[in-house]
Amino acid sequence: MHSLGRMTTETHPKTTAERLAAFESRRTAAHAGNEKAIAGQHAKGKQTARERIDQLLDPGSFQEIDEFARHHSTQFGMEKKRPDGDGVVCGLGTIDGRTVAVFAHDFTVLGGSLAEANGRKIVKTQKLALKIGCPIIGINDSGGARIQEGVSSIALFAEIFHWNVKSSGVIPQISLIMGPSAGGAVYSPALTDFTIMVDGTSHMYITGPDVIRTVTGEEVGHEELGGGRTHNTVSGNAHYLAQDEEDALEYVRDLLSFMPQNNLDPAPVEDHPADLTVSDADEALDTLVPDSANQPYDILDVVRTVVDDGDVLETSELFAPNVVTAFARVEGRAVGIIANQPMALAGTLDIDASEKAARFVRFCDAFGFPILTFVDVPGFLPGTDQELGGIIRRGAKLIYAYGEATVPLITLITRKAYGGAYCVMGSKQLGADLNFAWPSAQIAVMGAQGAANILHRRDLAAAEAAGEDVEALRASLVEDYEDQLLNPYLAAEEGYIDAVIKPSETRNRIVRGLRALANKHVDAPTRKHGNIPL
Ligand code: HXC
Repeated sequence: MHSLGRMTTETHPKTTAERLAAFESRRTAAHAGNEKAIAGQHAKGKQTARERIDQLLDPGSFQEIDEFARHHSTQFGMEKKRPDGDGVVCGLGTIDGRTVAVFAHDFTVLGGSLAEANGRKIVKTQKLALKIGCPIIGINDSGGARIQEGVSSIALFAEIFHWNVKSSGVIPQISLIMGPSAGGAVYSPALTDFTIMVDGTSHMYITGPDVIRTVTGEEVGHEELGGGRTHNTVSGNAHYLAQDEEDALEYVRDLLSFMPQNNLDPAPVEDHPADLTVSDADEALDTLVPDSANQPYDILDVVRTVVDDGDVLETSELFAPNVVTAFARVEGRAVGIIANQPMALAGTLDIDASEKAARFVRFCDAFGFPILTFVDVPGFLPGTDQELGGIIRRGAKLIYAYGEATVPLITLITRKAYGGAYCVMGSKQLGADLNFAWPSAQIAVMGAQGAANILHRRDLAAAEAAGEDVEALRASLVEDYEDQLLNPYLAAEEGYIDAVIKPSETRNRIVRGLRALANKHVDAPTRKHGNIPL
């Protein structure tokens, strides 16, 4: 059983020494928790809240708050279950020497359920993080609103959401899902910037399999409905799928290494001046783009050449892989990367890719990360699924995100930049500062096949009616279109791009571009806020 944490008349201390001893014993009991429940937690491959916090933070840096907070509920026998801390561990600590706030649900206490006392602890931690201006990390392992406490539970959820929203764009907010996260427990993570799930042991859903079976008759398992893989690959609700808890906590530390403490602070800078002599890796870019426009290549080969030590930390790697979003550093300064990936869906933009990239652009803009955009995009993905699914409204999010961004924006077109996708992907006219294109760039309304078919429909039909070799005619029309329009020079003549550069010059131009843009400042017109198409 949990210690009730109450002093009985027999143990009521009188002297200072007794008071200290009583305090020690109460704190020890509070930290020790319930042995049987902890064994159950470990048997499921999960750590306790305190073990997770210890693993996340710099050793010895945790300063707990509200460790003796308890609920006052008396219904359903709750007066006999009043453990100190009330099932959430909260406080401040450091990661790589920088202050963070943390709260962790303790599933071994009433299933980590959220209620009045522990909800107030979380809100206090959120407010503290906002006042200090430091990132906040929430470790979720909770059955949702504590049923016994009724409206107080859901009211406190609403208050947590309120402070999530107030903190958005001011301090980085990161959520770890390390067990169930059911009901109200899903919306705080959804409001934060990044959500990390652990493969096999974490689940997120608004209503679980039992409720779904009761209401709709549908049979679905926990994993399929809300497992880490589902949310990383299908719904996009999670941004990293960790192999285990250690991996998840390590990812958070890596992520935070790129982050400023808040929106007014600069991100940490490493001492890493670039050597701008052309390297072998730079030269390799001159032969990267295949001669055939339909042959893929890995856009990360370009990205890695540009950034320090080739290191990138991807977010949402398993979701919408046709666009890459990642953090990296250039000359030791953190940047955000958005890149079409020709290896997946030919790099087309679909609903998922647009939303993934839009959210990332907005995060970067809110926290001052310069954005490097790498473009090789044949267009928006055609199809009824996309049109009926709202590609117009949802693709517009990416336009909006780039259009409102005021951080330094550098865009490189490596190959295709067709149609609406050209506009969307950090085009000059949408507000980018420096726009480069390789000689292999094809900047046009559409690809050659589609254009030739539309422009010469009558000629092709006439040739077919006359029994001529239609395919030979089509090929020559395609070639003609390619010669006239599929290059970067029309855009360069009009100033739509700033420079055509050799691929091997890319790192040099981006490094020097970022140096030049370091003090970019844009005054936005006064308004309450815009109205992004949601
Ligand atoms: C009170 C809860 C609880 C809850 C779990 N427990 N969830 N107590 N309120 N919401 C308790 C259990 O009674 C049990 O107590 C202990 O936690 C461990 O739970 P188990 O069921 O034994 O664990 P497990 O088999 O691992 O299953 C975990 C679980 C399941 C999947 C999370 O407990 C579950 O389905 N809980 C309810 C989930 C849910 O529907 N939540 C939505 C609440 S409504 P004992 O004493 O037996 O150890 C909500 C709406 C808010 O959140 C809306 C705001 C927008």
